[in-house]
Amino acid sequence: MKPLIIANWKCNPTNLIEAKKLFNKVRSLDVVICPPFVYLNTRYKIQDTKYKLGAQNCHYEQSGTYTGEISPKMLEDLGLKYVIIGHSERRIHFKETDEMINKKLKAALKAGLKPILCIGEKKGENAKKIISGQLKKDLKGISKKDLSKIIIAYEPVWAIGTGDFCKPDKAKKALDFIKQKINTRILYGGSVNSKISKSYIKVGFNGLLVGGASLDAQEFIKIVKNA
Ligand code: PGA
Repeated sequence: MKPLIIANWKCNPTNLIEAKKLFNKVRSLDVVICPPFVYLNTRYKIQDTKYKLGAQNCHYEQSGTYTGEISPKMLEDLGLKYVIIGHSERRIHFKETDEMINKKLKAALKAGLKPILCIGEKKGENAKKIISGQLKKDLKGISKKDLSKIIIAYEPVWAIGTGDFCKPDKAKKALDFIKQKINTRILYGGSVNSKISKSYIKVGFNGLLVGGASLDAQEFIKIVKNA
């Protein structure tokens, strides 16, 4: 299976001109790009793109009195297929709980989206304990058929945005552990760069979730080529 490479632009760039420049530079890549919500519509304006678009988050209801929220149904209506759910930055800065993440996963699946569920331990935490706890709570009540539609991203929190990536051999231990619990595609994320990207695929990951490095088009192209 071809590795699935996902770019998470997070809260960048801060204007449409820069966003379009970046979209243009990576338009021939067969990847999924998750830009901020406001840039999701630019796909209608950029010609001959190969990438698909995804969102970085969604609400757990499809509509209603939820000021400021974007629902899975709206994303599906835009023609999107992917949505990141439970990213550690959302868990930490926006106090998203496993219960909320579980509701978001169910809502995204109901809207026909493919969720990318992020899990992983913080520095000093026991990886297996955290991973199994998150999987148990986040996936509660989801049918076997739906579980296979969920993509898991193993992202140790200490490796995100720090340059201190999780060594592929160590990440493989988490990968093997996750595989025992769920039979689906599993990606690695956390300070991925072009020198290391291939090693994660070699140890068995089905793709990568790339944050910071996806904002540098040249580096991102190299990551994809090497992987
Ligand atoms: P990073 O982010 O590549 O900048 O570490 C990964 C992520 O947050 O998904």
